[in-house]
Amino acid sequence: MINIAIDGPAGAGKSTIAKMLAKELAYVYVDTGAMYRAIGYYFLKNGVNSDDVETIEKELSNINVSIVYQDGEQQVLLNGENVNGVIRQEEVGKMASATSKYKAVREKLVETQRQIAREQNIIMDGRDIGTVILPDATVKFYLTASVEVRAKRRYDELVAKGEACDLKEIEKDIADRDYQDMNREVSPLKQAKDAVLLDSSYLDIPQVVAEMKKKIMEKLS
Ligand code: DC
Repeated sequence: MINIAIDGPAGAGKSTIAKMLAKELAYVYVDTGAMYRAIGYYFLKNGVNSDDVETIEKELSNINVSIVYQDGEQQVLLNGENVNGVIRQEEVGKMASATSKYKAVREKLVETQRQIAREQNIIMDGRDIGTVILPDATVKFYLTASVEVRAKRRYDELVAKGEACDLKEIEKDIADRDYQDMNREVSPLKQAKDAVLLDSSYLDIPQVVAEMKKKIMEKLS
C-alpha cells in the first residue's frame, strides 16, 4: 500500500492540501486530528478537566473512536455517533491539543490509524504520522508556515464568516498550540528525518499540491 504522511502545525493548510492531493491521486484521505478532536469532545461534553489524568485514563475505556466514509468524506464516529458537525469548534481543538499529550490517549488511536493505512492507499495528516504512526511511509512531508501567516489566514476565514476576532489573539492561540504540540513528552510534533520540508508561507495551495505530487511521482517511478 502507498502511505503518504503529512505532519505540521495547526493552520499550515494540511487538511486542505491533503484532501486535494488525495482526490488527484485517488487515495483515501485520513484526518487524524479529527480523531483526537472526537476524544476532546467527549471530555468536554462530560466535564472532564484536561489536567485530570486519572479521570481521563479511566474514561478512555468508555470511548470508542472510528471512522467511516460517506461520499468520499471522512466521518468520525464517537461511540457510534457521527460527531463531524461539532468537532471543528475552537474549544474542541484546544481540548484535543491539551489531552493528546497523554500516552493513554495516543495509545487509544495508534492501532486504528495503522490499520487504516494497511488497508488502502492513503494520505494521512497529523502531528506524529511520519515519526511514530507510519515510520515506513512511502513519502513524508512536513508542512509549515510562519505563525503570522497562519494567523492571518485564520483571521481572514473568520472575517469572511462574519465572526468578530482579533488578529493578535489568534496569533497567541496558534503560538500556544504550537508550543503544546511540539513540547509534549509523547510523540511531539517534529519533522521526521526523512521528511520533505515545505513552507506554505510563500507557496499557495496549488503550488504545494503540485510539489507534493512531484515528489510522490518521483518516489513511485
Ligand atoms: O489537526 P487538528 O487541529 O485537527 O488537531 C487537533 C489537535 O489534536 C492538535 O492540536 C494535536 C492533536 N493531534 C495529535 O496530537 N496528533 C495527531 N496525529 C493529530 C492531532
